[in-house]
Amino acid sequence: MHTHPRTVAYSQVTITELMIPSYANFGGKIHGGILLSLMDKVAYACATKHSGAYCVTVSVDTVDFLQPVEVGDLVSLKASINYVGNSSMVVGIHVVAENVKDGVVKHTNNSYFTMVAKDDNDKLTTVPALILSDKEEVRRFVEAIHRKDLKKEAAERMQATKKVFQLEKVMSLLEKERCEIAFAAN
Ligand SMILES: CC(C)(COP(=O)(O)OP(=O)(O)OC[C@H]1O[C@@H](n2cnc3c(N)ncnc32)[C@H](O)[C@@H]1OP(=O)(O)O)[C@@H](O)C(=O)NCCC(=O)NCCS
Repeated sequence: MHTHPRTVAYSQVTITELMIPSYANFGGKIHGGILLSLMDKVAYACATKHSGAYCVTVSVDTVDFLQPVEVGDLVSLKASINYVGNSSMVVGIHVVAENVKDGVVKHTNNSYFTMVAKDDNDKLTTVPALILSDKEEVRRFVEAIHRKDLKKEAAERMQATKKVFQLEKVMSLLEKERCEIAFAAN
């Protein structure tokens, strides 16, 4: 388990994998689950390197597949620690897919995995502080704080909405939606 502060560069990890035909979905493109699994692996490697401890995934924020990945593409996932809390780390993952025949590289997605470090007794453990070496690293750290605050705010608002839910009050909202009420609502 590491205790001294570490640079972002210290734990940066890239995984590169060729997309073989067995990774394809029924439409012939690469299955989203294959990419998620690779993202989880690279996040684990990066967080474990930073902390020097066993890490588990707590949460995944925004996985938007911007463009499809094709069979035969060489996918690279670059992971960096963007933020550290006490036991948690936010790992930013940048995914690109290269067509190995023509060399065209497309950016397929960015995602943020929150990982926590555990000690040998399966208890949460403190991770090293992060050394920010340039303006970009400071920007990512601050963005992670904002994302964390927004997530907390969204969770609180959803909780409040659930508490005051009344069927008759949401009926006008549903009028604009593509659904049909198939039971007697009053
Ligand atoms: C992660 C886990 C230990 C958190 O437990 P908890 O009782 O909420 O603990 P805490 O409230 O002390 O949170 C611990 C840290 O996780 C962070 N955290 C907890 N839930 C979070 C969430 N949904 N999103 C982001 N961060 C989260 C907290 O902010 C805290 O960070 P800090 O130590 O840097 O301040 C618990 O939810 C767990 O064991 N989950 C299963 C993880 C796992 O096994 N993953 C593998 C996939 S199945």
